[in-house]
Order: sequence, then C-alpha cells, then structure tokens
Amino acid sequence: MPDILISNEGPVRKIRMNRPEKKNALTLAMYEAMAAAIEDAGTDANVRCLLIAGAPDIFCAGNDLNDFVAMARTGALGTPIVRFLHALARCEKPMVAAVSGAAVGIGTTMLLHCDQVIASDNTVLLTPFVSLGLLPEAGSSLIAPSLMGHARAFSLLVMGMPLSAEAAKAVGIVNTIVPLAEFDVQSLNVAREIAALPAESVSAARRLMRGDVEEIVARIDEEVEAFKTRLASPEAKAALAMFLNRKR
Ligand code: COA
Repeated sequence: MPDILISNEGPVRKIRMNRPEKKNALTLAMYEAMAAAIEDAGTDANVRCLLIAGAPDIFCAGNDLNDFVAMARTGALGTPIVRFLHALARCEKPMVAAVSGAAVGIGTTMLLHCDQVIASDNTVLLTPFVSLGLLPEAGSSLIAPSLMGHARAFSLLVMGMPLSAEAAKAVGIVNTIVPLAEFDVQSLNVAREIAALPAESVSAARRLMRGDVEEIVARIDEEVEAFKTRLASPEAKAALAMFLNRKR
C-alpha cells in the first residue's frame, strides 16, 4: 500500500498518511504525493473540500528524522518539503484535518493551515523543534502567535509544551473533539458539510479570512533558510543522533 492514500469521497478529497510502521513519519515521497494531491485539488472543480487524516493511534510523527540527518549533510532541505509547505499555504480549497493520536512537528504545524481541525480524545500535539536543535516551520512562527498570542505560541513552538486535545482546543488549533470511535465518521461529515456550501462563496470568504498568503509563503521561505542552518548545527546533529541511536 502506498504511504499516502488519496481518494475522492464525492466532493471530499481525502489525503491519508499511511506509514504506520514508522508512525507516519514523512518521507520526501510522501511530501511530494501530498503536495500533488493538494495542488491538483485546486484545479479540480469536483473537489470542494480536502480532508487530511492519519491513523487512529498516530496522525504524524513529523519529518522522517533519518532524512533530516541526510539533509544536514547536503545542506538542502528537499524540494518536496518546500513544495508541500507552499501547497498548504496557497491552497484555495477549504481544508479539514482529522487528528488522532500524536501529531509531531509538521504534524502539528500543518494544522495551522486547516479551516477545521477535528481531534479525537487521544490526540496530543508535540512540537520538539527546539529540543532537536531546530526551529518551527510551515509558517507557524507567523500564524501561531497571531492565533494564540506570543506567550502561548512560545510555550508551544519554543518550549515544546505538549498540548492535549482539550489544550489545543483552548488555544484555538482544534475546534471539535470527538470520541475515537466516532472520529472518522464525524470528520468526514464536517468535510461534507463544507463541501455542500456554495464553493465560490467559501473560497472568497476563506481568502479574506486568511489574509496575505504571500506573506505566509515568504515566512515559510525564511523559516526554511533558518531551518537549514539549524539542521547543520552541532545542537541538531547531537539531538538527532540521540533519537536515532536510542536503545529501547
Ligand atoms: N522519523 C523516523 N522514524 C521515526 C520517526 C521519525 N520522525 N518517528 C518514529 N519513527 C520510527 C521509530 O524509529 C520506530 O522505528 P523502528 O521500529 O524501526 O525502531 C518506529 O517509528 C516506531 O516509533 P516508536 O518511537 O517506537 O513509537 P512510539 O509510539 O513509542 O512513539 C512518537 C511515537 C511519534 C511519539 C515517537 O516515535 C517520536 O517521538 N518520534 C520522533 C518525532 C520527532 O521528533 N519528529 C520530528 C519533529 S521536528
């Protein structure tokens, strides 16, 4: 089975991360597939809403840390990652995220681009960017402070304070929490509800609410440059080696 499953359920395009043996850690091929599915949705009039999902026990473990080690050697971040981040920012269709289990790193920051985030009661958002010697990405350094205020964004993105579903709801990332047993059905229902609205009106309202997309894209690019420097740093190399060499 592919690591990214893409299906159209009526007007809803479902993008499901499906690499359970590695906790849905994202490889370059996975970023590429997700970016293509989002970009393509933009030009497909039949798609009226996107739904991003993972597995019941894990939404996404963030970037594949082995890839980060390889990238630290080459000094490049990988075009598929940047393509995915730009696709998130530039997407003109409404996006719903269905989050259950852990959402780590980009697993959390991608949620900041979604219009509705449905979490199951086992959700935890983990943002260990700085403890890995890295820094927040995906435009989160811009979006999170405006969403929740500087201090709470600092707790999340710099101090790496984990957020339960309830805590994520309190800061405005998650808007609905449902029991795991009802989670798949309810998140699809939300996507279907949005898809049933007049599409052009949804897009126009969404565009106004999101503000200047190019500002977000510019911040993503700025974060990418800083991220590359951090990846090559002794702090990041030591932290990544510690995770990859851990004994269990
Ligand atoms: N990159 C590469 N492999 C990863 C990974 C990642 N981001 N996250 C998990 N994996 C792998 C583990 O190495 C392990 O592989 P193995 O079975 O071949 O040893 C497998 O996935 C299962 O992971 P494990 O840690 O045993 O699962 P868990 O349920 O105990 O914990 C997480 C799940 C997501 C909390 C934990 O794996 C984790 O913290 N991962 C790192 C997340 C991270 O730091 N991401 C980068 C953010 S910037």
